[in-house]
Amino acid sequence: MLIAQLSDPHVRPDGVLYQGVVDSNAQLAAAIAQVNALDPPPDIVLLSGDLVETGTPAEYAKLRGLIDGLAIPSLVIPGNHDDREAFRRAFGDHDYLPAAGPMHYVAASNAVRIVALDVTLPGLHHGAVDEAAARWLDETLAAEPARPTVIMMHQPPFDTGVPYLDLYSCRDGARLAEVVSRHRQVERIVCGHVHRFMLLRFGGTVLCTAPSTTTAIALRLRPEAEPASHVEPPAFLLHHWRPEVGMVTHLLPIGDFPGPYPFA
Ligand SMILES: [Fe+2]
Repeated sequence: MLIAQLSDPHVRPDGVLYQGVVDSNAQLAAAIAQVNALDPPPDIVLLSGDLVETGTPAEYAKLRGLIDGLAIPSLVIPGNHDDREAFRRAFGDHDYLPAAGPMHYVAASNAVRIVALDVTLPGLHHGAVDEAAARWLDETLAAEPARPTVIMMHQPPFDTGVPYLDLYSCRDGARLAEVVSRHRQVERIVCGHVHRFMLLRFGGTVLCTAPSTTTAIALRLRPEAEPASHVEPPAFLLHHWRPEVGMVTHLLPIGDFPGPYPFA
């Protein structure tokens, strides 16, 4: 099973540049074209939040126009830049989304079970795993202990070491880790939000964050570092599940690059 993960596209209204710098809409369109061209095609595309920048109807209309170009079914979660209710309206036809409250859900049956945990807090940039969310996740994971599982959430639940990112992480990481550590079928926790690829051991499983399809947040590890971002090559992740191997995660830059050349 192949699972593509696009994250943090930060779609803007037509003609508006993201942060006044880059055409995030064109970059999402390029990402979608690249995912559509993958051979073999992915089984599912995860969109791990911050799908638009400010949560306006114009942005969601633009987003839907772009996502409807995906040749592959998609699963979406909101990020801190999304407006939860506008998001719900925009994806009214995605019938796996709950009708009210946090957007936790389990995707329809497949080789790998996708569990979405909505850690966003409307109106705030950081996230949290409250007791209700932890209980939901624990019960959901307990229901199918034998099926390999990916947990998708927006804000990562760990301290990255980048000071301006860690102000807006998902709090309650220890509570989440405690739940996940009881369920050995969790192959990955996949996050967005930080606009960079990161990988670590967490709660007895492997956690990774996806790059953004638009700008990259600067990697600055000094405590006094000032926030910044760069226009780096955008990228997405491809999680490849094979029962005999496990989950292999690939990072693919988005764009047209020279090659192929002979391999020797
Ligand atoms: Fe975010």
